[in-house]
Amino acid sequence: MSARAWFPTYIYSAPLQAADCRKLNDQLADETRRLRDHDAAGRRWCAQHYPGGYTSYASLPQLHRTSSTFAALERKIALHVRRFARQLEFDLRGRRLFMTDCWVNLMPEHAAHGLHLHPLACLSGTYYVRTPRGCPGLKFEDPRLDRFMAAPPRRTGAGPRHRSHITYPAVAGRLILFESWLRHEVAANTKRGERISVSFNYNWA
Ligand code: NI
Repeated sequence: MSARAWFPTYIYSAPLQAADCRKLNDQLADETRRLRDHDAAGRRWCAQHYPGGYTSYASLPQLHRTSSTFAALERKIALHVRRFARQLEFDLRGRRLFMTDCWVNLMPEHAAHGLHLHPLACLSGTYYVRTPRGCPGLKFEDPRLDRFMAAPPRRTGAGPRHRSHITYPAVAGRLILFESWLRHEVAANTKRGERISVSFNYNWA
């Protein structure tokens, strides 16, 4: 083989822990619903920017500092972030990675989250708390897509590594990590149940 692939884009996916996550997820789901019920400013923001759903992104974006449940989640996520940073061969120059923001996302039926990236962060991710059967996953876009210009499209049935998008299913108890510049979206939830996730950003300092 004379042609080799370079410049990989890594997406990390793993169960949060070996032990059962149900108790933690029940607590996270309860707190998420309580936040939605009490966060009037957040609900007003969501009416404009997150139609049909609730996210604390704009109103309560540092839950790991205000809730012991989310602080416990942060400690579990930190192990995975360290592992991912090693795989990416980051040289942190004596600094350390730390969680800057942590917020909840509650997507009832019909709620969607359009294509976006996470500015002012180096690693980002999502932990899944409630995932009704058949709810949408996390869809990532090839970061080179805006440079393809005259490149021919790929064949139908092309290998997964040659496709312009990859979707990771949302599975309660699992964690997904990616570099913050990688654009992603969540398609509309077509299922009745509430899809609940916790998203977060890391930076280094
Ligand atoms: Ni995101």
